Amino acid sequence: MGRYDDGGTASQLFASWGTFMRRCLFGLLSVGPIPAHFAFIMDGNRRYAKKKNIEVGAGHKHGFSSLMSVLKYCYELGVKYVTIYAFSIENFKRNPAEVQNLMNLLLEKINGLLKEESIVNQYGVRVYFIGNLKLLSEPVRVAAEKVMTATANNSKVVLLVCLAYTSSDEIVHAVQVFCKHKSVEIQALNGHKASNGVINRAKIVKKINSLMVPDVEESLALKENTACNGVVEGVEGTERINGGTVYTVEESCDNKDEAPGPIASRIGNGVIVETSEKQGEHPIMKLVDVEKYMYMAVAPDPDILLRSSGETRLSNFLLWQTSNCLLYSPAALWPEIGLWHVVWAVLNFQRNSSYLEKKKKQL
Ligand SMILES: *[C@@H]1O[C@H](CO)[C@@H](O)[C@H](O)[C@H]1NC(C)=O
Ligand SMILES: *[C@@H]1O[C@H](CO)[C@@H](O)[C@H](O)[C@H]1NC(C)=O
Repeated sequence: MGRYDDGGTASQLFASWGTFMRRCLFGLLSVGPIPAHFAFIMDGNRRYAKKKNIEVGAGHKHGFSSLMSVLKYCYELGVKYVTIYAFSIENFKRNPAEVQNLMNLLLEKINGLLKEESIVNQYGVRVYFIGNLKLLSEPVRVAAEKVMTATANNSKVVLLVCLAYTSSDEIVHAVQVFCKHKSVEIQALNGHKASNGVINRAKIVKKINSLMVPDVEESLALKENTACNGVVEGVEGTERINGGTVYTVEESCDNKDEAPGPIASRIGNGVIVETSEKQGEHPIMKLVDVEKYMYMAVAPDPDILLRSSGETRLSNFLLWQTSNCLLYSPAALWPEIGLWHVVWAVLNFQRNSSYLEKKKKQL
């Protein structure tokens, strides 16, 4: 080295002075509680491009460099988990050229994560891609999976990138996985009991691969339909979600005399298991069951959610996980977000942390 001209030396000095000041500042901040999990909705890249009269693609690129700085600040501060909303399932509805550009940018950046000089190697980041990755184009999905595998042994800090994500999709997915597991469990149990001659009233009505549940409460309490009109209420008219399949369950209610007999609970794969009335006291699906299968189960709930551009909507992001989260929405557009926004958010968190802690304990 040592070949910098004066301007270069000056800017280098300035940069290391900046780093030094930042370290001091973070040292001071660390006297108080540091959030464990910081989440970001990166809003305003397009507005930024418009404002600066540059192309939309360039706006996204500015947004990316802003993200890299923010990640650096978070990790320097000792924040262990950072979650970013990179691409919503809703974003697929944007104009195809923009979606394609975004996917190309994503692919480039995801591949970049594995480079020697990337932030991942600098800070020992474990990367998770969170969301319905099947919806992504093949190259993006493959690249994402590669990064997850390659960083699986990192444990210092974690980056969660929500891609093809919405909160409602995450919840539905968790319920579906739960139902699948439960049905396997129950089939095994029935097989076992039937062979003992204890229970043999379980009947398989119709094979369905999975169950879309429009209303969890309702389906939990799903009783064997007394109306016997051939359709089970509550499952009928299930909404079409993300191009998923609609399952209507038809039931041949041949034995009308059975009603008002025992409550039957419907679990995935169309198995009806007759159980005693007491079932209500031990619900089949509990909160922890759903939570366990959430994509975000790999991290604690976020402490701070920052959404840029002054917007205060959550836009279907981490709805399940943000009940005790500090929301902060500075007016700056995402590419304009910098050190001071992070510092300000942490100060707000610290000012309110005893209150937030108390709230968490009340849960
Ligand atoms: C992670 O650790 C496991 C067990 O120690 C090892 O088998 C695997 O190759 C490691 N993966 C990477 C990407 O280093
Ligand atoms: C913390 O947040 C709660 C709820 O928003 C608010 O009532 C309280 O005044 C805040 N406390 C501080 C010190 O900011």
